[in-house]
Amino acid sequence: MNNSTNDKFIIKGLAGKRTLSGTIKISGAKNAVLKAMAASVLFESPLRIENVPDTEDTDKMLTLMTGLGISTEIAPGALHIDATKELSTDLDHDISKSMRASVVITGPLLARFGNVSFPAPGGCVIGSRPIDLFIEGYKKMGAAVSIKKHSNGDDRYEITAPKNKKGFCLQGAEIIFPIQTVGGTETLMMAAVLAEGKTVLKNCAMEPEIVSLIEYLNACGAHIEGAGTPTLVIRGTAGKLLKTNAKKPYVTIPDRIETASFLFLAAACGKDITITDCEPSHLEVIIDMLINSGVTIEIKPSHIRVTASGKPLTSFNIRTHEYPGFPTDVQAPAVVYLTQTVGESRVFETIFEGRFKYVDELVQMGAGITAMNPREILIKGETPLKALDGGEELVSYDIRAGFAVILAALIAKGTSVIDNTYFIDRGYEAIEKRLKALGADITRIIPE
Ligand code: EPU
Repeated sequence: MNNSTNDKFIIKGLAGKRTLSGTIKISGAKNAVLKAMAASVLFESPLRIENVPDTEDTDKMLTLMTGLGISTEIAPGALHIDATKELSTDLDHDISKSMRASVVITGPLLARFGNVSFPAPGGCVIGSRPIDLFIEGYKKMGAAVSIKKHSNGDDRYEITAPKNKKGFCLQGAEIIFPIQTVGGTETLMMAAVLAEGKTVLKNCAMEPEIVSLIEYLNACGAHIEGAGTPTLVIRGTAGKLLKTNAKKPYVTIPDRIETASFLFLAAACGKDITITDCEPSHLEVIIDMLINSGVTIEIKPSHIRVTASGKPLTSFNIRTHEYPGFPTDVQAPAVVYLTQTVGESRVFETIFEGRFKYVDELVQMGAGITAMNPREILIKGETPLKALDGGEELVSYDIRAGFAVILAALIAKGTSVIDNTYFIDRGYEAIEKRLKALGADITRIIPE
């Protein structure tokens, strides 16, 4: 993708009119493809991944993996990953720090090679995002954990579980997650695939991206039961690597967060928008809320059509929740939509403690939003939005807050400038081209 970190978007708003129309195609899920890429370390044969989104996070993961000695080939929409050689198990400091998903590859590396070293991962600034549950899980599976100082003063985890004579590194264990964690579930599950004996993971996350990963790993020789339920039982292969079937690549499922982001955009700014190549069954809660709010929605197996009814839209409350509840990643675009509905809405963020920073941008644009406490906001609608005075720039704080400010700028009267577009590029492929195709007036400014 290679967009500059300093790009800006200039958006001429629709002044509250619902005029966008056309079709928008959904990409493969960022949060599925990153995990499938990490899973390549579990294989004795190269892995082909299809329906790969061209996002900055995919590129970063490729760079991280190349640094470990993994060969990667990129074809349009597809990846060929060969992790069959002996690999380095030291994760690059800077890339790992810049992307939370980097920690997911530590499970496959530890299970296969018996050691891994990495910094506490970074990612979006949406809360503290600890990795204690990964570390506790590794310890339960027999690994030793120490923390060393990196040359720049940062802590670096060093995890070891030396291979025994029988060829495996980790031991099956019973692990109960005190809270549901997407990355924790995926990482310990992948580690357990190559461990010896049975691992039982309880209170697991149940997101569709995890189910898709399980189905693929099972098709390649893993033994994981319980996909889509809170309890996963994994019978480890005791070090035997998985084998791909050349005729059956991993096909990335549609991005449900991107689909939901465009649903809120269509509901707030659309006249007649059809979202294609998506999976409506992954979005039942959101679709139901929007229909109850007065949005006209027609659902086909992989299409969702949203048409403007001309009637006022009504408010609703949101409490973010693990799947199948209302996703935390859709909270920010939903809040922008709620500023355009009649009545009061309360939005409670249960997953991450730092996910309301973008609200300041909306308030400056005229939204009637009050922070009740660090986790809850009250929105009073409907309020017209306007571009910031004097060309002042809107900031995108994370991937989803970035999309939210794009949506706010599209709704607003006047021309908005959005800084920090890099965050948006991390999760949404070629966003300005796709919005232009719907009739939006959006331009990317690339600095000299
Ligand atoms: N948590 C801990 N300790 C841990 C792990 C997690 O306390 O060891 C906490 C987190 O701090 C958070 C909660 O558990 O409060 C849930 O976090 P989770 O581990 O589920 O999140 P994640 O795996 O780091 C993924 C997505 C996020 C998405 C969350 C929740 C990827 C790469 N990221 O993160 O996506 O918000 O699940 O659904 O899969 C995004 O795409 O914009 C994004 C941030």
